[in-house]
Amino acid sequence: MIFELCATILLIGLILKMTKRPHNFPPGPRGLPLVGYLPFFSSWDPQYPHKAMKKISEVYGPVVGLYVGPSRPVISVCSHEAMKEAMLNDDLNGRPDLAVMMARTFGEKLGIMFVMGQFWQEQRRFTMRHLRDLGFGKTSIEDQMMGEVGDLIKDIENKSQSDPERIVDLKGIFQVSVINILWAMVAGERFQRHDSKFQELLRANELFFRTGKIFRGSMPVPAFLLKRFRFIREFIGVKAELIEPIQKFIKETIEDHQQRNPSDDEAGDFIDVYLKEMKKQKDENPSTNFTEKQLISTIIDLFGAGAESTSGSIGFAIIHLVRDQQVQQKMQMELDQVCGEFFPTINHRSSLPYTEAVLMEAQRCSSIAPLTVPHYAVKDTKLQGIGKSAQPESVCRFSRFQILERSGSVPSGTSFK
Ligand code: HEM
Repeated sequence: MIFELCATILLIGLILKMTKRPHNFPPGPRGLPLVGYLPFFSSWDPQYPHKAMKKISEVYGPVVGLYVGPSRPVISVCSHEAMKEAMLNDDLNGRPDLAVMMARTFGEKLGIMFVMGQFWQEQRRFTMRHLRDLGFGKTSIEDQMMGEVGDLIKDIENKSQSDPERIVDLKGIFQVSVINILWAMVAGERFQRHDSKFQELLRANELFFRTGKIFRGSMPVPAFLLKRFRFIREFIGVKAELIEPIQKFIKETIEDHQQRNPSDDEAGDFIDVYLKEMKKQKDENPSTNFTEKQLISTIIDLFGAGAESTSGSIGFAIIHLVRDQQVQQKMQMELDQVCGEFFPTINHRSSLPYTEAVLMEAQRCSSIAPLTVPHYAVKDTKLQGIGKSAQPESVCRFSRFQILERSGSVPSGTSFK
């Protein structure tokens, strides 16, 4: 009897301890022991985590603290002021070790998007510098882009002619162009648009980035459990089998580059310059961060970050233009006046204010990338005056959705204006 009583008291004590929130933790809903708030989160919005975050913030305030799993604090940040403060706070600029993210990069913290500190600085700086040298964001890449745009237009025309009602399914069509332009910088070649291997890679890339579960994915799960139990992998959205063909394809391309072994003058793409740096660093420092796995992971990050965001922006802009014919005509008039029969180029940009405003409004109201990548508190820190806004190991989710929903200080909603 005494044993049962003690066990019950111990159990109740343990449950209370597990649901206790630290002193000065941001306001937020309580959860259950072991699973935290996970079972209830999607009741706020079953489809869109950023909308669930918005609804929770309307009850608890712009900085909300909750737990997922037995021990993972999650901080949801949902106002312009709080997000600006958070983004400027270096203590919140870490990246968590989430299994969902690490599945992309051989179970290690590699690449650019989900790494931090000196490693991040070194690899990001190298990548940005060399992509810029290879034409990223510059007029020197325009010839390649024009070739791609020409092929895209032909593709749309062919599709429209082959359908009796002239209906074109645009799904995936822009991703081909975006990845092809990135691939030209990364590997020095473009794919044929209908190449079956290329189509396979695009599908895997899209599926991988769409199947990640934003809140479940924040649960800390030991690697051995993940490896052993498929249902846990599925529950938190780890799809390593989708990323493996992409890793293999990039690895084979790197091997082709290694065999070619170009001279310094011939190094014409990102893989060439990275391999050159890898060799140089290995000679000087055997424990260098410049490795083949890191190169593969960086390329995966560029595809993942660049393809969906850019092709989504173009796709949404087209939907808005189809729905708003007046805006479409005004934009067409500006393009005709400024560019005549030629494609618009970066040099035309400053003479196309209306076109630029339309594209920016399409991005704003469609909430391209409604959340930033998950951030991580490297130590206890304050946010919006709340003392323990993020303790070490808190995963911080910042909502761009609420910022995009407002235009300046005026709420503008999600309709195209
Ligand atoms: C409309 C297009 C795009 C949008 C809306 C967008 C949006 C974003 C957002 C919200 C972040 C997270 C920032 C943070 O949490 O700190 C991010 C990071 C990143 N994006 Fe983009 N992006 C776009 C295009 C691209 C393209 C074309 C590339 C590459 C070719 C790219 C590469 C990256 C990388 C590498 C990061 C991680 C940066 C870091 O952690 O330092 N993005 N992007």
